[in-house]
Amino acid sequence: MSRDDPYVRDNRLRSVLCVPLTNQGSGVGLLYLENNLAPGAFTPSRLALLKLLASQAAASLEKARLIRDLEERQSRIRRLVDANIIGIVIWARDGRLLDANDAFLQMTQYTREDLERGLAWHDMTPPDWQTHVTGSLSELTATGVMQPRAKEYFRRDGSRVRVLIGAAAFDAQASEGVAYILDLTEREIAERKAVESEQRFRDLQAELAHANRIETVGQLSSWIAHDIRQPLVGMVASANAGFQWLSATPPNVGAAQRSLQRVEEEGHRAADILDKIRALMKKSAPVRERVDLNDLVLSTLPLLHSEARHKTINVQVDLAQATPLVSADRVQLQQVIMNMVVNAIDAMSVSGEKEKNLTIATQVDDKGGVTTSVSDTGPLLPAEEYDRFFKAFYSTKQHGLGIGLAICRNIVENYGGRIWGEPCAPHGTSVRFWLPGFTSASGAGE
Ligand SMILES: Nc1ncnc2c1ncn2[C@@H]1O[C@H](COP(=O)(O)OP(=O)(O)OP(=O)(O)O)[C@@H](O)[C@H]1O
Ligand SMILES: [Mg+2]
Repeated sequence: MSRDDPYVRDNRLRSVLCVPLTNQGSGVGLLYLENNLAPGAFTPSRLALLKLLASQAAASLEKARLIRDLEERQSRIRRLVDANIIGIVIWARDGRLLDANDAFLQMTQYTREDLERGLAWHDMTPPDWQTHVTGSLSELTATGVMQPRAKEYFRRDGSRVRVLIGAAAFDAQASEGVAYILDLTEREIAERKAVESEQRFRDLQAELAHANRIETVGQLSSWIAHDIRQPLVGMVASANAGFQWLSATPPNVGAAQRSLQRVEEEGHRAADILDKIRALMKKSAPVRERVDLNDLVLSTLPLLHSEARHKTINVQVDLAQATPLVSADRVQLQQVIMNMVVNAIDAMSVSGEKEKNLTIATQVDDKGGVTTSVSDTGPLLPAEEYDRFFKAFYSTKQHGLGIGLAICRNIVENYGGRIWGEPCAPHGTSVRFWLPGFTSASGAGE
């Protein structure tokens, strides 16, 4: 500051003193004094005194700042404690609870009076959790913190509350510290409920799937009664022929043997059809196996023949050269195909079209997956109709449950695939499902 400074000139300053205020080497402010009566007012002895004053002022300023910081921090902590979002307690190593917020008291049903009477951790800890306390104290002494963990406390009424607790010590000896406690009861009840309802949902789905299978089989049984009759009639006829060859004089053993062989073949045919129905009826847990979809389609055909004949429907198959194996439950996939076929036949029965064609096809794509489709020449539908097909309980049939395709979707998606419907030229519907080809990651059994 020079004599020519306008401030010095205007205020007629005679002496000016400026002393930096430092605390432990860092500046915290400036002490500025002025005198407009006498020059050289700040003599060395006054200067020494002022410097001493300045250093005390600096220390006081710093202290005031620290106190303000501390108060601010304390009020922030207080806000956290009083917000009662989680339980917070201040504990002492001897087990006393020095302070606790309302959230903690509500969780454990204790009162402030109980705290004042000297409520301690030990009284609240069930015998089977006592070793936990010792472990926590050693962790706190060693590291200063106790990592969050689940444990149980006795409530005031003797019942137990499951909590998540974490803690930090205030000093190296862990003689006092803070702990935060979260009530796990509600969360665990909610989790249990979620698991239970998921289980109930799965049970219901399994029940529905089974009901749908029985219904499909019921429908199939009437279709195939005719198919089963055929081999049975054949067996009786062949057995009769066999008797006659044996009763002839001389008995024709060779011809009788051939007749018996036919009985055996017809018997196998009938048993085969019955096996397929039984497999569909069975309520067993799905298994993962490697399934060849071409094989599956072919083995499904005998189940449709009589109905197709009865309703004058041409059944065609259009199979890919060789389909990659897929990892799934064979019976479940057969159920999917049967549901699609039953729907296609239903659709053609109401359409009134003269020519009824049902095509079951497989196609392989460059992603190594297989698409299986069932196409019909039923009615032409508006595009938005196809998404509705797969909604549970959507049915346009008088006696339809509307769960057939919902179950199909569930099964297919379970195996990482997808199912959809689309129009099929010149009219009709094609319902298709895609499944990924088997890889060692698909986890199919043999
Ligand atoms: N190939 C198809 N052509 C025309 N509409 C179809 C076809 N497949 C399905 N749908 C429509 O989708 C609806 C739902 O089919 P879904 O198989 O889920 O139930 P549903 O056949 O009505 O009854 P169910 O539960 O007994 O199978 C059917 O009611 C029908 O309206
Ligand atoms: Mg159906």
